[in-house]
Amino acid sequence: MSIQIPRGTQDILPGEIELWQYIEEKAKDVCRRFNYQEIRTPIFEHTDLFQRGVGDTTDIVQREMYTFEDRGKRSITLRPEGTAGVARSYVEKKMYGQANQPTKLYYNGPMFRYERPQSGRMRQFVQFGVEAIGSSDPAIDAEVLALAMSIYEELGLKEVKLVLNSLGDKESRDSHRQALIDHFKPSISEFCEDCQNRLEKNPLRILDCKKDRDHPLMSTAPSILDYLNEESKTYFEKVRAHLDQIGISYVVDPTLVRGLDYYYHTAFEIMAEGEGFGAITTLCGGGRYTGLVEDLGGPSSPGIGFAFSIERLIMALKAKNQVIPSAPKLDCYVVSLGDEAKDKTVELVYQLRKAGISADKDYLDKKMKAQFKAADRLDARYTAILGDNELTQGKINVKDMETGDQVEVELDAFIDYLKEKTVGGK
Ligand code: HAM
Repeated sequence: MSIQIPRGTQDILPGEIELWQYIEEKAKDVCRRFNYQEIRTPIFEHTDLFQRGVGDTTDIVQREMYTFEDRGKRSITLRPEGTAGVARSYVEKKMYGQANQPTKLYYNGPMFRYERPQSGRMRQFVQFGVEAIGSSDPAIDAEVLALAMSIYEELGLKEVKLVLNSLGDKESRDSHRQALIDHFKPSISEFCEDCQNRLEKNPLRILDCKKDRDHPLMSTAPSILDYLNEESKTYFEKVRAHLDQIGISYVVDPTLVRGLDYYYHTAFEIMAEGEGFGAITTLCGGGRYTGLVEDLGGPSSPGIGFAFSIERLIMALKAKNQVIPSAPKLDCYVVSLGDEAKDKTVELVYQLRKAGISADKDYLDKKMKAQFKAADRLDARYTAILGDNELTQGKINVKDMETGDQVEVELDAFIDYLKEKTVGGK
């Protein structure tokens, strides 16, 4: 019996991978211009990290983690998100001590959540994310938001909406929390079991419940924006002013609650708008966090970041029929006729490749006609044709597949000739 791919995962094959590479290159280039550097942290971490970092009451920690005991009897978890690992590394590698602050990092790698797979929701997905740690200047919030929006814009995705909220500082959150408890408590029995559990532990998460979304008490729930103290209000106003200053448009949604516990002040999501998109419309999520670095044993270092999955970004690009780059052409396919010529092609393709030219040849003992077909299928820019006769004369034929022109070239000059035509001529 054949073995199938695990549910919620996917193979990304040639033909599709070019799009991934294109997105990753674009996103990295935007990060470069914003002066963010790449960090790679492990795919698995100690389970504690996520319990402490992401939060015990979150869906992620309660039911979505891939946790197992390793052979050394340690509890290990495949990372469900990137922020906790980056914060752990920031503390462990004492990045707070480096001269240039804030520390501005980006990452790109697989994350794992045991969720019910559906379109746009995978069990293994790739997050591209950014974290700026060590500054509580509202200008860095605007920078991070601008960075996220630039990636979408530069990929040609204009129909996205930046949704913004403030969750306030601890004081504001505590008074809002109490107001939520007072609001929901009398009728909590009408809510699902999860919400009943959330009431005392984390009532903010009730607002994010999918099951009780339509309960009348949801729309009348106290808004965080009415509970922001002066400091939080000013902070939020400054973030907004900076966004206005650089011309990033957004809508404020006081019901925006993020699914992770570490957020304070700025919280945001980027949503896909318009037709042609499935049930899941959140493309990107992020916000400001205070306390995460301290909880992991570091000094007080507030941060802000976001992450989006490349899978959802691709869905959005496809829904909008955005131009998708195709596989790069092969520079040269070397066709041979006769045994000696065939042997010679081993050397020729190697020399072409060394010279920076992409090249390939037949390995299946195909007839000449079939070799030409292969060159066609590979969309080769040039085909070089070598027969035993040409070989003895020290010549080779080169056909330009776009114009159909064919020239005979000295074998000794062949590599330089093609170099001039391809990499040299570019
Ligand atoms: P999150 O909202 O849990 O935040 O996830 C961020 C993004 O990851 C989502 O908007 C979505 O694009 C993608 N994503 C999440 N789960 C899945 C899934 N099962 N399948 C496909 N895509 C998914 C975080 O992870 C935070 N660490 C973001 C952050 C960084 N906040 C501050 N810094």
